[in-house]
Amino acid sequence: MIEELYTPLQIELRNRARDLAENVMRPVAAKYDEEQTYPWEVQHAIRDAGLSGVWIPEEYGGMGAGVLELCLVVEEFSRACGGMGVGFAVNALGSFPILVGGTDEQKKRWLPPIAAGEALIAFGLSEKVAGSDAGSMITRAEKDGEEYVINGEKKWNTNGAVASFNTIFAVTNPDRGARGISAFVVAKDAPGYRVGKHEDKMGIRAVPVVEIHLEDCRVPAENLLGGVEGHGFKQAMITLDRARPGVAAQAVGLAQGALDLAIAYTHEREQFGQSVSSFQGIQWMLADMATQIEAARHLVHTAARTIDSGAKSITKLSAMCKLMATDVAMRVTTDCVQLFGGYGYCKDYPIEKYMRDAKITQIYEGTNQIQRLVIARSLLREAAGGGK
Ligand code: CAA
Repeated sequence: MIEELYTPLQIELRNRARDLAENVMRPVAAKYDEEQTYPWEVQHAIRDAGLSGVWIPEEYGGMGAGVLELCLVVEEFSRACGGMGVGFAVNALGSFPILVGGTDEQKKRWLPPIAAGEALIAFGLSEKVAGSDAGSMITRAEKDGEEYVINGEKKWNTNGAVASFNTIFAVTNPDRGARGISAFVVAKDAPGYRVGKHEDKMGIRAVPVVEIHLEDCRVPAENLLGGVEGHGFKQAMITLDRARPGVAAQAVGLAQGALDLAIAYTHEREQFGQSVSSFQGIQWMLADMATQIEAARHLVHTAARTIDSGAKSITKLSAMCKLMATDVAMRVTTDCVQLFGGYGYCKDYPIEKYMRDAKITQIYEGTNQIQRLVIARSLLREAAGGGK
């Protein structure tokens, strides 16, 4: 990172996150990867370091910074542990719908505990039958007096087992397609809300990814985001536009963390009477990886700055940075395993975890195939004279 391009606050935040990542996360990353349990000690350290509400406005108890600062923190966390990086970032994903679609009263109610690190929030969009085609969801919310009754199941709910709140998307009017979807903030102790299956995952094993069952789950009508039905799908899309740079930053952190380890290892490891890093073939690999990471980082930061500027057209850049950074992360972490040779394939070394953690970044918050679709749609709309 070229420090001259960043404000003193951004550099201080990056350093604060790096200290926490090195001193708290890295020493326990393998343990939580093995156990697949939630690292509360890490969550408490994030809270104590004052980093929980980086992206939340000051009036709602947060730091009042933006998506760029969120990305700086997520990159540093993910450099030490990809699972802990997303365990933090998913709170932004869960709270963005409140920020973009909630009333002032709703923001005052839910954002301060998240900003203080006292509550976690998840994001319930996907279902068994509705992954890439998010608009085909079948979870149903029906009004009953002053309450909504929600029935259905949410899938791939990151942090759902530990979050106090979950932003749940459900169909309020089945005749209106995407315009019949609404968003609700549901508390974990709402009647009829139940955490189901815990996925046994390839990577990001420090965060629970679960199914959420909603069985006649009753929520007060005042928990309908924005107070008006039918805006949920747009709120989800606007949220994903803001959150995808966070996944991209997670990918940059994973790639950078893997490259750091590969540089140290190839320097130390001797074959044919010399350090492995003295071979030009290896040096070219290191140079290519560093170049790709730097390019990805700059695209992520450009997307984040564009979002923070208040620009209207953020969809294409957001998808582009997610697509590029996560493909770079998969390529780089795979090549880093190669540089460790047989040792890279074994759990005695931390490198294989980077490759496992990287894979999901190409899948969640919209597969990279969906990112290409989103980018292409923007290109064609622009060519036809529409907005970006
Ligand atoms: N901003 C604002 N509005 C948007 C928008 C955007 N970026 N994208 C779409 N919309 C609006 C459209 O304008 C349209 O509005 P009107 O009805 O007023 O015309 C409406 O939303 C429907 O849009 P489309 O017709 O384009 O919708 P679609 O059904 O063709 O699908 C899609 C669009 C881009 C493919 C979308 O379904 C999508 O993003 N899919 C991927 C879902 C995803 O990312 N899921 C990940 C969930 S989170 C997760 O991974 C788990 C976790 O916990 C980390």
